[in-house]
Amino acid sequence: VKKCSLIGDWVNDLGSNMTITSMNAKGVFTGTYHTAVTATSNKIEKSPLQGAMQKSPNQKGQPTFGFTVNWSFSDSITVFTGQCFVGDDGKEVLKTMWLLRSHVENIKNDWKATRVGVNVFNRQQLQE
Ligand code: BTN
Repeated sequence: VKKCSLIGDWVNDLGSNMTITSMNAKGVFTGTYHTAVTATSNKIEKSPLQGAMQKSPNQKGQPTFGFTVNWSFSDSITVFTGQCFVGDDGKEVLKTMWLLRSHVENIKNDWKATRVGVNVFNRQQLQE
Protein backbone atom coordinates (compact mmCIF):
# COMPACT_ATOMS: atom_id res chain seq x y z
CA VAL A 1 0.00 0.00 0.00
CA LYS A 2 1.33 3.44 -0.90
CA LYS A 3 2.10 5.67 2.06
CA CYS A 4 1.50 9.38 2.50
CA SER A 5 4.47 11.68 2.94
CA LEU A 6 4.10 15.35 3.82
CA ILE A 7 7.48 16.31 2.37
CA GLY A 8 7.30 18.26 -0.89
CA ASP A 9 5.23 20.84 -2.76
CA TRP A 10 1.46 21.12 -2.34
CA VAL A 11 -1.31 23.28 -3.82
CA ASN A 12 -4.77 23.73 -2.30
CA ASP A 13 -8.25 24.51 -3.64
CA LEU A 14 -7.62 28.27 -3.26
CA GLY A 15 -4.41 28.06 -5.29
CA SER A 16 -2.17 28.51 -2.25
CA ASN A 17 1.25 26.83 -2.38
CA MET A 18 2.95 25.06 0.50
CA THR A 19 6.38 23.48 0.66
CA ILE A 20 7.31 21.15 3.49
CA THR A 21 11.07 20.98 3.49
CA SER A 22 12.18 19.06 6.53
CA MET A 23 10.86 16.46 8.97
CA ASN A 24 12.76 15.06 11.94
CA ALA A 25 12.55 11.62 13.57
CA LYS A 26 9.90 12.84 16.00
CA GLY A 27 7.62 14.02 13.16
CA VAL A 28 8.30 17.73 13.73
CA PHE A 29 8.41 19.57 10.40
CA THR A 30 8.97 23.01 8.88
CA GLY A 31 8.21 24.68 5.59
CA THR A 32 6.92 27.76 3.82
CA TYR A 33 3.40 28.84 2.86
CA HIS A 34 2.53 31.13 -0.05
CA THR A 35 -1.16 31.99 0.29
CA ALA A 36 -3.17 32.96 -2.79
CA VAL A 37 -5.59 35.06 -0.74
CA THR A 38 -5.59 37.31 2.31
CA ALA A 39 -8.15 38.81 4.68
CA THR A 40 -5.98 41.94 4.84
CA SER A 41 -5.05 44.64 2.32
CA ASN A 42 -1.35 43.84 2.78
CA LYS A 43 0.99 42.57 0.07
CA ILE A 44 1.24 38.78 0.32
CA GLU A 45 4.65 37.33 1.24
CA LYS A 46 5.83 33.76 1.76
CA SER A 47 5.49 32.82 5.41
CA PRO A 48 7.04 30.14 7.65
CA LEU A 49 5.14 27.13 8.97
CA GLN A 50 5.93 24.68 11.75
CA GLY A 51 4.07 21.49 12.50
CA ALA A 52 3.95 18.00 13.87
CA MET A 53 2.92 14.70 12.31
CA GLN A 54 1.62 11.79 14.36
CA LYS A 55 3.99 8.83 14.11
CA SER A 56 2.12 6.18 16.10
CA PRO A 57 2.32 2.77 14.37
CA ASN A 58 -1.46 2.31 13.91
CA GLN A 59 -1.84 5.19 11.43
CA LYS A 60 -1.41 2.80 8.46
CA GLY A 61 0.57 5.28 6.37
CA GLN A 62 -2.18 7.92 6.49
CA PRO A 63 -0.92 10.17 9.27
CA THR A 64 -2.69 12.98 11.12
CA PHE A 65 -0.85 16.27 11.46
CA GLY A 66 -1.14 19.91 12.49
CA PHE A 67 0.81 23.03 11.65
CA THR A 68 0.87 26.75 12.36
CA VAL A 69 1.50 29.47 9.76
CA ASN A 70 2.98 32.61 11.29
CA TRP A 71 2.08 35.16 8.59
CA SER A 72 5.03 37.43 7.89
CA PHE A 73 2.90 40.13 6.18
CA SER A 74 0.03 40.34 8.69
CA ASP A 75 -0.50 40.11 12.45
CA SER A 76 -2.66 36.99 12.09
CA ILE A 77 -1.98 33.32 12.79
CA THR A 78 -3.50 30.25 11.12
CA VAL A 79 -3.54 26.72 12.50
CA PHE A 80 -4.31 23.78 10.23
CA THR A 81 -5.14 20.23 11.27
CA GLY A 82 -5.69 17.32 8.95
CA GLN A 83 -4.86 13.91 7.63
CA CYS A 84 -2.89 12.66 4.65
CA PHE A 85 -4.83 10.10 2.57
CA VAL A 86 -3.91 7.91 -0.37
CA GLY A 87 -6.90 7.95 -2.73
CA ASP A 88 -8.15 5.07 -4.87
CA ASP A 89 -6.14 6.61 -7.74
CA GLY A 90 -2.98 6.26 -5.62
CA LYS A 91 -2.63 10.02 -5.29
CA GLU A 92 -1.95 11.66 -1.94
CA VAL A 93 -4.41 14.26 -0.66
CA LEU A 94 -4.33 16.36 2.50
CA LYS A 95 -7.78 16.98 4.00
CA THR A 96 -7.55 19.87 6.45
CA MET A 97 -9.50 22.30 8.55
CA TRP A 98 -8.11 25.67 9.62
CA LEU A 99 -8.67 28.49 12.07
CA LEU A 100 -7.46 31.98 11.11
CA ARG A 101 -7.05 34.27 14.09
CA SER A 102 -6.94 37.95 13.23
CA HIS A 103 -5.63 40.64 15.56
CA VAL A 104 -8.34 42.88 17.00
CA GLU A 105 -7.86 46.10 18.95
CA ASN A 106 -9.85 45.15 22.03
CA ILE A 107 -11.75 42.36 23.77
CA LYS A 108 -15.09 43.66 22.54
CA ASN A 109 -14.08 42.62 19.03
CA ASP A 110 -12.94 39.14 20.07
CA TRP A 111 -16.18 37.59 18.78
CA LYS A 112 -15.29 38.38 15.17
CA ALA A 113 -11.59 37.56 15.28
CA THR A 114 -11.62 33.90 14.18
CA ARG A 115 -12.45 32.45 10.76
CA VAL A 116 -12.82 28.72 10.09
CA GLY A 117 -12.67 26.70 6.89
CA VAL A 118 -11.51 23.65 5.03
CA ASN A 119 -8.73 23.20 2.49
CA VAL A 120 -7.81 20.23 0.30
CA PHE A 121 -4.18 19.98 -0.81
CA ASN A 122 -2.89 17.97 -3.77
CA ARG A 123 0.73 17.33 -4.58
CA GLN A 124 2.09 20.02 -6.93
CA GLN A 125 2.77 18.62 -10.40
CA LEU A 126 6.36 19.00 -11.59
CA GLN A 127 6.83 22.27 -13.52
CA GLU A 128 9.05 22.44 -16.58
C1 BTN B 1 -4.06 37.05 6.57
O1 BTN B 1 -4.93 37.28 5.72
O2 BTN B 1 -3.98 37.71 7.64
C2 BTN B 1 -3.05 35.98 6.34
C3 BTN B 1 -3.36 35.07 5.20
C4 BTN B 1 -4.46 34.08 5.51
C5 BTN B 1 -4.73 33.11 4.39
C6 BTN B 1 -5.82 32.09 4.72
S1 BTN B 1 -5.29 30.85 5.88
C7 BTN B 1 -6.68 29.84 5.53
C8 BTN B 1 -6.95 29.97 4.04
N1 BTN B 1 -6.22 28.98 3.28
C9 BTN B 1 -5.29 29.54 2.49
O3 BTN B 1 -4.53 28.90 1.74
N2 BTN B 1 -5.30 30.88 2.63
C10 BTN B 1 -6.35 31.30 3.54
